[in-house]
Amino acid sequence: MVSLLLALLIGGTWGALRWARRSVRKEPPAGTRSSAGNSRAPLRPPPVSPPQSATVPPPTRLPSGPPSVPPPGSTRPRPPTGPAVVHPPSGAHLAIDFGTSNTVAALRSADGRRVPLLFDGLPLLPSAVFAADDGHLMVGNDAMHLARTSPDRYEPAPKRCIDDGSVLLGGRDYPVVDLVSAVLSRVRDEAQRALDGPVHNVTLTHPAAWAVHRREVLAAAASRSGLPTVTLVPEPVAAARFLTSVTRTPIDEHAVAVVYDFGGGTFDATVLRMTAGGFTVLATEGLPDAGGVDVDAALVAHIGAAYAARDPEAWQRLTYPSTPAERRERRTLWDDVRHAKEMLSRAASTTVHLPLFEHDVLITRDQLEMLARPVLDRTVTATRSALAAGAAASTPAAVYLVGGSSRIPLAATLLHRAFAVAPTAVDSPETVVAEGALLAKPA
Ligand SMILES: Nc1ncnc2c1ncn2[C@@H]1O[C@H](COP(=O)(O)OP(=O)(O)OP(=O)(O)O)[C@@H](O)[C@H]1O
Ligand SMILES: [Mg+2]
Repeated sequence: MVSLLLALLIGGTWGALRWARRSVRKEPPAGTRSSAGNSRAPLRPPPVSPPQSATVPPPTRLPSGPPSVPPPGSTRPRPPTGPAVVHPPSGAHLAIDFGTSNTVAALRSADGRRVPLLFDGLPLLPSAVFAADDGHLMVGNDAMHLARTSPDRYEPAPKRCIDDGSVLLGGRDYPVVDLVSAVLSRVRDEAQRALDGPVHNVTLTHPAAWAVHRREVLAAAASRSGLPTVTLVPEPVAAARFLTSVTRTPIDEHAVAVVYDFGGGTFDATVLRMTAGGFTVLATEGLPDAGGVDVDAALVAHIGAAYAARDPEAWQRLTYPSTPAERRERRTLWDDVRHAKEMLSRAASTTVHLPLFEHDVLITRDQLEMLARPVLDRTVTATRSALAAGAAASTPAAVYLVGGSSRIPLAATLLHRAFAVAPTAVDSPETVVAEGALLAKPA
């Protein structure tokens, strides 16, 4: 099976590659600083073939997991942006993708071995943070669990607070850099435990559109968490490193490929030119406000439009909770909505429990697609702009689906219609950026 895939990948063209996907978790609305959290999404078993219309073939599928590693010392020509090769290790190397919903890390020991890095048994660490009574910041699943009792001490998506300076949790102001640092500290701890020793090199990714100030907050958080000096790499560049490493492309020197990264809170479209030694980034277009949370928000608004009139006072309490119990109900609603959205990538319909109304609301995939369409259209438009800016060709040789929200079947359908190429999916679109960051040359 593996050989067959490799044969297909090596022998085929970009357009011949294909794949499927899995699932993840998501976040509630940013904007509320302290309460109303979100929850995590349990990893779901794999694949569901993306929804196809009669004329739209399913996305192509690539294998997931770390790419094969050339022997230390092997050389390849280096393109301007960086080749898809692993550099000889000069100490243990940790790569971290600090995401809006999930933080993912990849680890390589000093002798070049890939070391599995899991958080509570899962490859995704929810980026959520909870302030305990003593001021200590808990993260990940623990934070999500504790948020059930004190939602006002909970921030589900610190990445979306990056410009805020500080966040109010449980009546106390916490610098955003401390929230990010708490998440990174957990990654550092797990990495050191897995290595049974220190980490020497760290690569940290950030959205392509982040300017200096945001990158400085990220670097300061890494420093505060006790990580060694970090190399910062744009998320789409890391994703491209992974994808080019897996595909080992060199196809047509003039062909361009698109990395479509639709995550929990941000979207990046990146246009690459493939070269024999790797790739060159031709253009990137980012949307800082387009992610899974925005699809969740559209679904909550849809439910509100249908139910608020039945009991305006109850809807008001769900929308603007003022007591711990109401904040819990609100969290429950947002969690349920996110789970329902993810399930609708695999099923035609599901229900969302509406707290306070004690009603189960039926939601169909068609409804979700209608609600998600404005956000998806923006991502397609941004992809088109990136292509226009980066290459004269309007038809890319490949479109790669990255980020948990790219599992929404309509995303692949719209991309296929727009660019006349069947998008290529990976088994685990949430881990692509971290895997690719591990291929970056450490500082
Ligand atoms: N099966 C699915 N269908 C639809 N959406 C999904 C599915 N699985 C996961 N998601 C969504 O993917 C998002 C999380 O993806 P990911 O982990 O790639 O984001 P992130 O890296 O944390 O965010 P960002 O890159 O924007 O900072 C969530 O909004 C989640 O609900
Ligand atoms: Mg991401």
